[in-house]
Amino acid sequence: MKSGQKIDCYTLKNVAKRYDQREVLRVDELALNTGEILALVGPSGAGKSTLLRLLAFLEQPDEGTISWQGRPVDGRWPDLESRRQVTMVFQQPRLLKRTVLENIGYGLQLRGQDVAKNGRLESLCRDLGIYDLLDQKSSKLSGGEQQRVALARALILEPQVLILDEPTSNLDPQNIALVEKMIERDNAERGTTVVVVTHNIFQAKRLSHRTGLILNGRLQDVSDTASFFDNPRNEETRRFISGEIVY
Ligand SMILES: Nc1ncnc2c1ncn2[C@@H]1O[C@H](COP(=O)(O)OP(=O)(O)OP(=O)(O)O)[C@@H](O)[C@H]1O
Ligand SMILES: [Mg+2]
Repeated sequence: MKSGQKIDCYTLKNVAKRYDQREVLRVDELALNTGEILALVGPSGAGKSTLLRLLAFLEQPDEGTISWQGRPVDGRWPDLESRRQVTMVFQQPRLLKRTVLENIGYGLQLRGQDVAKNGRLESLCRDLGIYDLLDQKSSKLSGGEQQRVALARALILEPQVLILDEPTSNLDPQNIALVEKMIERDNAERGTTVVVVTHNIFQAKRLSHRTGLILNGRLQDVSDTASFFDNPRNEETRRFISGEIVY
């Protein structure tokens, strides 16, 4: 993202999400710029996946407003076409009990496109190291292979927004580097807005333009990644990155 570029992607105002009357997330204010990579870190149960589901329009907040591309999210907006510009890769991706190729092609198929005719299929799968697995049944894949198939399934759709919930949690260091490179490249080449949750604070540092900390359901701090890690203004952030908050 070029510095100074500020195009509205999401705006959240006074957003709260409750489950069974228990508030699990509160975000007073958050603005996401188009083309930025935002990493979200925080302890288990803090509300990270909940925030991602709201950003992916999979759930509605109980309070407050989420706007996407400058318009409040409600029953009519985003319409189907626009919703399809936002793709989420889940913490535990569920693949269809079909081949890898059919899984990667499924989203395209729903959009009336044929995966076999997709010009990016081969290079995408080769880059993710899953090209030789295309004919394999997804049920036979390792956890790390499943994670890379789920990422390929998202990237092939060329979404404007990519929402990634711990996309490398099952991967070895070599595959982590490979997936990070793919995310960076997609962001640089296509200007994809990326929101990525990670338990790996070094990944947040490597990959993101800004980093946010969620603690006990509260978005505590969102800062430029360099200052988040090297010169945190927020006391909770300082404690979190120094390991004083166990997670
Ligand atoms: N569908 C649901 N019904 C009830 N409670 C829920 C539901 N989904 C999440 N929660 C609760 O909301 C809180 C936040 O959950 P969330 O999945 O957002 O955490 P997280 O930060 O992603 O954690 P982790 O790092 O372990 O994935 C947790 O206490 C969780 O138990
Ligand atoms: Mg989670």
